[in-house]
Amino acid sequence: MKIAIPKERRAHETRVAGSPETVKKLVGLGCDVVVEKGAGAGAAMVDQAYQDAGAKIAASAKAAIGGADVVLKVQGPQIGGKEDELGLFAKGTVLIAHLDALRARDEIAALAKAGVTAFAMDLVPRVTRAQSMDVLSSQANLAGYKAVLDGAAEFGKAFPMMMTAAGRINPANVLVMGAGVAGLQAIATARRLGAVVHATDVRPAAKEQVESLGGKFVAVEDEEFRQAETAAGYAKEMSDAYKEKQAALIAETIPKMDLVITTAAIPGRPAPKLVSADMVKSMKPGSVIVDLAVETGGNCELTQAGKVATKDGVKIVGYLNVASRLAADTSQLYARNVLNFLELLIDKETKELAIDMDDEIIKGTLVTRDGAVVHPALAPAEPKEKAAPAEAAEDGPEEDNSDGE
Ligand code: NAI
Repeated sequence: MKIAIPKERRAHETRVAGSPETVKKLVGLGCDVVVEKGAGAGAAMVDQAYQDAGAKIAASAKAAIGGADVVLKVQGPQIGGKEDELGLFAKGTVLIAHLDALRARDEIAALAKAGVTAFAMDLVPRVTRAQSMDVLSSQANLAGYKAVLDGAAEFGKAFPMMMTAAGRINPANVLVMGAGVAGLQAIATARRLGAVVHATDVRPAAKEQVESLGGKFVAVEDEEFRQAETAAGYAKEMSDAYKEKQAALIAETIPKMDLVITTAAIPGRPAPKLVSADMVKSMKPGSVIVDLAVETGGNCELTQAGKVATKDGVKIVGYLNVASRLAADTSQLYARNVLNFLELLIDKETKELAIDMDDEIIKGTLVTRDGAVVHPALAPAEPKEKAAPAEAAEDGPEEDNSDGE
């Protein structure tokens, strides 16, 4: 079985879907692995290391993808344009990638049309057995860490309290908005740097997690809040009345903050707008906002995608693809996630692909097969009152009580 690891071609993407470590394991499983020249360069993984692990190096995407049974990617293939990759896939090729499937509906339709058998790593159900395949968690974890460092780099002051001969420096106040995987790591990182950390979320389960990391939980804890978590452990879109109360509380809290890190997301929906232009204006000059939700529209009204903007003396950091800013580590973890998933698809005896549609992880992740979009959460043209993307997604991943770390 030929497995291809092409170079990622999308803007801001420096990660790679296989590492020398995972290539070695795949070769050990009896696979022929082909890595495109320079595929790991952005993640400090050189061609020689892949060769030492048993891979062949292909000179181009065409040479890597052509004839492959399985293609491992970080993001979906480029469709159209000068660097089109989808045209290189033969019918029936298996693609395993983070496809952003709930949002990139047109791309999923194009994969179906090309006859690709595509698995979306972003839809891996959040059940205990699949934790080692959970790319959302592995990447968000490091992005949460990096967001604090990016914020600290733009902040002209120190984080910890310092007692010096020249007097005391007060600790920085950090507010983390959205205490999911990225937010919890941001809380832990900011605490390690010595900041006083506050955090907000709309899921009641987040309160205990924030407090266990030494953060102060700030939220409107009304009846709606108590019901806000879906069966899959995700946030629900809140009512307008709740949003108003939440905005009033944030408006009160934010002027006291030095660094605000926003990570709030609702699967398949635009990011909730939590920091208004007026709130930015109310912050102290020199304060910093790092918006990790920039890809889905941003949590702050003034975030500019891919830029560090300054407004009313406040710096607003909107780096795209923050996981790529730590590509060596995020690639390592992503590659392990993908390997663990791929092992589910390989028959240990015959060493051939064997897709078991009774397996909940495979079923929950397969998005296209035999020319059709097959995932229930991606059913086309659903009536409005029925499954909107986030609600449909709720039916996919099963509830799990583990802590998601
Ligand atoms: P996410 O990336 O979808 O959202 C980030 C955070 O934003 C969430 O905590 C969400 O509640 C929060 N949020 C949404 N709207 C908000 C608003 N208006 N104001 C404030 N916060 C808002 O979520 P993520 O990080 O992927 O995980 C969410 C939860 O899923 C985890 O905390 C955990 O409970 C569960 N999980 C379970 C795993 C498992 O294997 N069992 C693995 C990872 C996560």
